[in-house]
Amino acid sequence: MTLVLAIESSCDETAASVVDGRRVLSSVIASQIPVHARWGGVVPELASRAHLTAMRPTVQAALQRADRSLEEIEALAVTAGPGLAGCLLVGLETAKALAWSRGVPLVAVDHVQAHVDAIFLEDDEGAGAEPPSGPYVALAVSGGHTSVMRVERRGDVMTLGQTLDDAAGECFDKVAKLAGLPYPGGVHIDRLSEDGDPSAVVLPRPMLRRGLDFSFSGLKTAARYHIERAGGVDALGPGGLEDLCASVQEAIVDVLVHKAAQACVQTGLDDLVIAGGVACNRRLRERARGSCQELGLRAHITPARYCTDNAAMVGGLGGALLERGEGLEGGALLRADLHLTRRPAGRSARGAR
Ligand code: KG4
Ligand code: ZN
Repeated sequence: MTLVLAIESSCDETAASVVDGRRVLSSVIASQIPVHARWGGVVPELASRAHLTAMRPTVQAALQRADRSLEEIEALAVTAGPGLAGCLLVGLETAKALAWSRGVPLVAVDHVQAHVDAIFLEDDEGAGAEPPSGPYVALAVSGGHTSVMRVERRGDVMTLGQTLDDAAGECFDKVAKLAGLPYPGGVHIDRLSEDGDPSAVVLPRPMLRRGLDFSFSGLKTAARYHIERAGGVDALGPGGLEDLCASVQEAIVDVLVHKAAQACVQTGLDDLVIAGGVACNRRLRERARGSCQELGLRAHITPARYCTDNAAMVGGLGGALLERGEGLEGGALLRADLHLTRRPAGRSARGAR
């Protein structure tokens, strides 16, 4: 097992984690929500600056909570993409500097692959969902990504379909913004939907029966027309906002669950992993479980604490790749980091090549 210090800074969370194999020893997340809330979305330049100030204390806190020193760390893992360039650079440069100064390997990890690998994490809060034992279909749904993938083994991923425009989380957030709800809006739509009727507003299910790609921008536009026709959010009437939220949520969930199940049928795989920030959505979790049960599939739904952006998922996948001796040549690796793969003579990082 390799003791990995992991860093995530691809969007609006500065996160650091210490992971030993699949075991999470610490997972610290400095959220930038207050920085971006007043703008109603992530402002890339502000995000990069906030990462710069939060990075050192976040890494320190991760080491402290794990009760490990930097000297004990055997490898660094870092999100190399996809994400906001300026934000990624902060994490990458921090990880490179730490790996260089300690003489330990650095593995660059793909953010979306890390999301769908979070199902393998273990911690003291009790077992999450059982991870799949073989190849699986993964639905990655977050603010920046919506894709359905075939995962052969950890970090070995083939995309089967993805969004052609907005991501599912982006759709949640944009509709929430139209409805005057705070940023990020997904969780608010989730809450308000509890008191709404999911069939109250007739909305499209974009590309439902057309392959495994997604499209959510039309749904957002339909929600906008609904609000405009009423004469504004305040004119939706009693329960109108809740009904709209529940209807939008149902439309998104319908599409996600249908395509994920379709991918299982097409690939002949029985295990479905659901991950990413939108996987916190209670209706999605419930509907995915139900649909899997009906179809004789096994649902593996990532524990909510590892759905939204975190560094533990980066450390878990980074460690797995390193132990297979693959991570350093793996898909997301920046060539410039190759020199860091060689440890100085005399040092041994357990488990790492
Ligand atoms: O994975 P994540 O933290 O960041 C990205 O990689 O994008 O996902 C953030 C997204 C946001 O769009 C947020 O609104 C959404 O996840 N989200 C939710 C819920 N909790 C977070 N969407 C729907 N229902 C939720 N409960
Ligand atoms: Zn993410």
